[in-house]
Amino acid sequence: MRFRSKLPDVGTTIFTVMSRRAIDEGALNIGQGFPDYPIDPRLADFVHDAIAAGRNQYAPMEGVVELRTQIARKLEASYGGTFDPELEITITCGGTEALFDAIQVSISAGDEAIIFDPAYDAYEPAVRLAGGRCIRIPLLPPDFSYDWQRIKEALSERTRLIIINSPHNPSCTAITEWDLAQLAALVNDRPITILSDEVYEHVIFDGRRHASVLAHPELPERSFVVFSFGKTLHATGWRTGYCVAPAAMTVELRKVHQFNTFSIVSPLQYAITRYLAECADRIRDLPRFFQTKRDFLSRQLQGSGFRPLAAAGTYFQLVDYGSLSRERDLEFADRLIREAKIATIPLSVFYAEPPSMTLLRLCVAKRDETLAAAALQLRAFSERQTRA
Ligand SMILES: Cc1ncc(COP(=O)(O)O)c(C=O)c1O
Repeated sequence: MRFRSKLPDVGTTIFTVMSRRAIDEGALNIGQGFPDYPIDPRLADFVHDAIAAGRNQYAPMEGVVELRTQIARKLEASYGGTFDPELEITITCGGTEALFDAIQVSISAGDEAIIFDPAYDAYEPAVRLAGGRCIRIPLLPPDFSYDWQRIKEALSERTRLIIINSPHNPSCTAITEWDLAQLAALVNDRPITILSDEVYEHVIFDGRRHASVLAHPELPERSFVVFSFGKTLHATGWRTGYCVAPAAMTVELRKVHQFNTFSIVSPLQYAITRYLAECADRIRDLPRFFQTKRDFLSRQLQGSGFRPLAAAGTYFQLVDYGSLSRERDLEFADRLIREAKIATIPLSVFYAEPPSMTLLRLCVAKRDETLAAAALQLRAFSERQTRA
């Protein structure tokens, strides 16, 4: 029998490809977005305690209530309003599961979802599996701003979902309250759900406040908002996140969640509950922590030929190699792995139709030694390049 693929054009993600290439070539991997430093030892102790206390059986389908209660408090402190832990918050397998579930319940056969390029790669396959199709609207470098007129023109009778992401991976921009007001006006009298991917809510720089959809006066009533403890606790392998949505939308989301993952690792949920209660200062410190890393990398790259673009948030930093080469980013990134022994992510892979550009994505969520070593290797590469 010939098995029919539902996603024939989807291959292994660029992150996996680049990470494998990094291992094969003995290259330093500063492409994929994961920290290479340890988690807070208190958090590790809390996991140990939870396991020792016997928190090892199925957690409730919607998540441990103590954790959902802590999350509600955290959301109220950050964004105002009130959130019902019983009816509006669901613990999921990372932000990724929350995105998938929200897309499955929002999109039916023939529906359209608007997404913005450069787009995180999990959105489109989930829309297609639900029977829908994505209308991809480009955000263009260097500022990657939203063209609200163009977005309005892209709406159709079939538009059911708009997916936004802020702080934005991979452009490192942050949405503004003005943008959210444009979005609210656009969807006001239309049957359109918003899926807001806010996994980098705490990784935001230069004194900005994260403009959450949850803080908007009108948008929350039609929005799924997605968060990730993987990002917030420097523990991407924990695969723990959550989704906030109005009660009626949460009922639907949980129908998919229930038969997708059913429930999420128990001891981690208890450990995170304690961490939110006892170590909230560490979370409040995240903007400073990551901004220091962003600035450190930028200083190390000064004069290297890899020019950092303005970065308002996320684990990432875009760099422009245009003064060194006009090669396409895929080829240039491949050459960097071989010749500089540095793995990066070329920006074009996040676009359906990439504009002409010379940008690579680096991850700043690394130890200073890693960032310094990477910058040194990039500098040596560009010196060889300019001598040649
Ligand atoms: C924009 C964006 N959304 C969602 C995710 C997925 O989050 P998680 O690792 O919690 O599944 C990521 C992870 O890199 C991301 O960058």
